[in-house]
Amino acid sequence: MGGQNGGVAARESQNPAPVGRVRAAVDALPAYKPGKAAEQAEREHDIAHAIKLASNENPYPPPAAVVEAVAAACRVGNLYCDHRATAVREALADRLSLAVEQVTVGAGSVALLYQLATAYIDPGDEAVTPWISFEAYPISVQTMGGTLVRVPLTAEHGFDLDAVAAAVTERTKLVLLATPNNPTGTAVSTAAVARLAESIPGDVIVLVDEAYREFADPALGDPVSELLPRFHNVAVARTFSKAYGLASLRAGYLLAHPEVVTAVDKCLLPFNVNGLAQAAALAALSNEGSSEARANIDTIIAERRRVAAALAADGWAIPGTEANFVWLPLRDRTDEVCLALERRGVVVRPFSGIGIRVTIGTSVQNDRFLSTLAEVTQPG
Ligand SMILES: Cc1ncc(COP(=O)(O)O)c(C=O)c1O
Repeated sequence: MGGQNGGVAARESQNPAPVGRVRAAVDALPAYKPGKAAEQAEREHDIAHAIKLASNENPYPPPAAVVEAVAAACRVGNLYCDHRATAVREALADRLSLAVEQVTVGAGSVALLYQLATAYIDPGDEAVTPWISFEAYPISVQTMGGTLVRVPLTAEHGFDLDAVAAAVTERTKLVLLATPNNPTGTAVSTAAVARLAESIPGDVIVLVDEAYREFADPALGDPVSELLPRFHNVAVARTFSKAYGLASLRAGYLLAHPEVVTAVDKCLLPFNVNGLAQAAALAALSNEGSSEARANIDTIIAERRRVAAALAADGWAIPGTEANFVWLPLRDRTDEVCLALERRGVVVRPFSGIGIRVTIGTSVQNDRFLSTLAEVTQPG
């Protein structure tokens, strides 16, 4: 064995040819960068007691009903789960007054985004999105050989939906709208999305990505009840990761016309929504699970208002946020401020040259962020 491996190594050093022939589209992809773990920051900076406010996680553990349901699901972990997560689809259809054919479930809403791109994007096709937005958008589209057309945000960090409509061409297959938007926290109303849907061809799928919906003002509207009946090309993605605190369990869902659901389902990897995730999602939808989640959401919204007010009082001009995070548009000071915060144990998410996204944590964590920010920099 040793001799054979040695032979491979020798051949490689003489002829450093690539291993396999990776697709050009994949070769050119940026890797998805998750938020840095607190432990990693502790190792890098030789510090203790770091906190992570970098991944828009819910600071509270899942509802007790969910933890019990997951533990029970582990006992049948030797058996394959239901590939289609039928019970979760049915529970969601029931709760949202939809036909079950309008509902699909994925291993997180990001999996549904990839399935949507797989189903609709051919090489040379385009997807249009306001930018900056969710960093998985370019990866999912470019993996398929498509191009993500990025439409700049307004000066107030919001969406310019007229410019999005103007960017739609005959090559456009998808429009991707994260509302509230990651990383700015800004949101658009369903009335504004309806105007966009009216002004573009009906065969362009408009994905309304509502990963942070539960933290937003209900007055913005509900695309499921207001848009799905009117526009067959509108699809809505939601997740159990954020509001329900199930990020690690991986369950999200897509609500759309049955034809879109059928196409997206064809791209579902076998058993991708695992049995633990299905059990967790069902328990999260139960009365007990959802009332505990609601209490946590209310606390997070109250903390977000407190953090935003404290930042404003300190002189920061930040965009109004409807999500579980705030956005500091620090531009060229981004990396320096991020590093200074991290060295003091507050791990946030930098978007180099643009700004810093800070997740709302517990009130103790939020206080630590506010005081550390004041220590390392001033608005300006
Ligand atoms: C806008 C947006 N959409 C989708 C997701 C994916 O979430 P998940 O795959 O955990 O459901 C995220 C996660 O950060 C997000 O910010």
